[in-house]
Amino acid sequence: STTPELILVRTEGRVGIITLNRPKQLNALNDQLMNELGAALKAFDADDGIGCIILTGSEKAFAAGADIGAMATYTFADVYKGDYITRNWETIRSIRKPIIAAVSGFALGGGCELAMMCDFIIAADNAKFGQPEIKLGIIPGAGGTQRLPRAVGKSKAMDLALTGRMMDATEAERAGLVSRVVPLDKLMDEALGAALTIAGFSQVAVMAAKEAVNKAFEGTLADGVMFERRLFHALFATADQKEGMAAFLEKRAPNFTHQ
Ligand code: CAA
Repeated sequence: STTPELILVRTEGRVGIITLNRPKQLNALNDQLMNELGAALKAFDADDGIGCIILTGSEKAFAAGADIGAMATYTFADVYKGDYITRNWETIRSIRKPIIAAVSGFALGGGCELAMMCDFIIAADNAKFGQPEIKLGIIPGAGGTQRLPRAVGKSKAMDLALTGRMMDATEAERAGLVSRVVPLDKLMDEALGAALTIAGFSQVAVMAAKEAVNKAFEGTLADGVMFERRLFHALFATADQKEGMAAFLEKRAPNFTHQ
């Protein structure tokens, strides 16, 4: 396997740590990054020396979402035929060891969805969560419309998905999206402490606990995510998607025509 370029991988005892490392783009999630992340997660999952995984980003951004530059000109035919943007994200759900998201800074769009695909989230006090896709003329495409309501309830999920506003760490903890909030400079210590505890338990029991909790949580999630994906891809047929993403890249306000 080749050395990853957009992530950093290291271990601390029985804990595997993956750091998203595309800082200039606020860890915007492109195919290469997601492929590297998937490969690193699979390698830790297969490694008997690893009992728990931490996924983290930079101080400023866990991840600011899917890479808008990479998808701005996609058509519906492109994304539907190729299952683009979200295709390689399902790997994360197949990992059987626990993954803790250690989130500081922005976790927006696909970044928020990526954090929610992890088993639990520990947030730094500067964390900001949101699903701002609506501002681009699209909707969340990596499970956000299904996982966010399960995590925070319908009202807050609707509020976030429809207004595109951000939620700070305090609000996210109150709503149940994150399990703990700690000062920024304590984030990795806290996540590592939790991960080392988990990695010290029976790997079999830990895997069973993860699987069982997910059973309670995921009910009809697969149907929901597929439904969401069809809609998400369909939005690449709209003029408003082209306008929303072009406006972002040109650093101007979008002029939506509702077409
Ligand atoms: N894709 C591509 N590039 C991105 C990006 C993204 N999602 N988010 C940020 N960047 C880039 C910016 O374009 C900028 O690049 P340049 O320096 O080359 O201009 C750089 O990262 C720094 O960003 P800003 O200058 O905007 O930083 P800021 O501190 O002023 O604002 C922010 C930070 C509020 C997070 C802002 O960057 C932002 O709104 N980003 C987009 C968030 C978003 O819309 N995410 C959803 C994407 S769609 C999606 O994720 C689909 C899905 O469900 C799978």
